[in-house]
Amino acid sequence: MPAPTISTEGLRELLERRAPVTVLDVRPAAERAEWSIPGSVHADAYEALRRGDPTALADFHPTNGDRVVTVCAAGKTSMLAAERLRARGLDAVSLQGGMRVWSLAWNTAEVRCPGTTPRIVQLRRTGKGCLSYLIGSNGAAAVVDASLEPQVYRRVAENHGWRICTVLETHVHADHLSRARALAVDTGAKLCLPTTDRVSFEFTPLNEHDTLRVGSAGLRVFHTPGHTPESACYLLDERALFTGDTLFLAAVGRPDLEASAEQARRRAHVLHASLQRLLALPPETVVLPTHTSEPVEFDGRPISATLEEVQERTSLLRETEETFVSQILTRLPPTPPNHHRIVALNEAGTLPDDPTELEAGANRCAVA
Ligand SMILES: [Fe+2]
Repeated sequence: MPAPTISTEGLRELLERRAPVTVLDVRPAAERAEWSIPGSVHADAYEALRRGDPTALADFHPTNGDRVVTVCAAGKTSMLAAERLRARGLDAVSLQGGMRVWSLAWNTAEVRCPGTTPRIVQLRRTGKGCLSYLIGSNGAAAVVDASLEPQVYRRVAENHGWRICTVLETHVHADHLSRARALAVDTGAKLCLPTTDRVSFEFTPLNEHDTLRVGSAGLRVFHTPGHTPESACYLLDERALFTGDTLFLAAVGRPDLEASAEQARRRAHVLHASLQRLLALPPETVVLPTHTSEPVEFDGRPISATLEEVQERTSLLRETEETFVSQILTRLPPTPPNHHRIVALNEAGTLPDDPTELEAGANRCAVA
């Protein structure tokens, strides 16, 4: 008899309320090394389960309560694992759609930002490490770098008594499909992007020195090219800086996507200048990037740091321009999977029927 399944939303809720559950990942070790569910345990049982080896998972025991959720890449081998465990009398269910669908799982953390009155909620796509933000002030809200389905932002905004009025992007993304346009259509909000001729849909352009109002708060625009030519950062009430993929907590944005080798070198120089401008902001400025390279825990703790902390952790930021450029170009990680197709869709402002097919895998936007 097939084992019962649990949806991504069901498992997400269990983890968010810290319910006892053992998440058992049965994928091959190399796939797990790419990305995994925070707190999950691993049994490299994939091949054994596929060939029906009777000893597969024989020595597995739940480590957190009696309930077990088995996970694989797409939800088939995890079904075999759950059936095997149920035959042993364990309360095991299989994650529907596997890691591919888990790619849409999310959690939230409130960002505390001394001296500001607007509230900031960080929404994290836990598997992919995409970070997006809801900024709420006087009943109005703005969303920065939407990477989740529109209803997620609507739900969180409604819980806070906010109406989403503005949707902003820091740049044209290469490793997740932007949900900004869909969210703007869904909510009737104004869609704002840094000035660019890259996209083929209508938007409100943002330029250096513009200030966008969100309730009683202000978002000041910094044009910070380098990661991409149009990249911008947004400074909230002079305290919190939404850095997109220009600056991470211990890394900087890669300058080479959709660029020739010569363009990447030029962009690395431009990135250096952009970063120097950001580093001139007060050291206590809270840095809020759009990606993290680790799966995000269900711990309610925001992924953020002060500009001073970021500077301490990121040796590239302390290099001369020439060293910065040569180091960045030698340390580039592999390009994100499917990035040409993702960029093309983001420039067109369209979403495929199943976005997770293109988005699978961890984030690769940073150079550390
Ligand atoms: Fe990016």
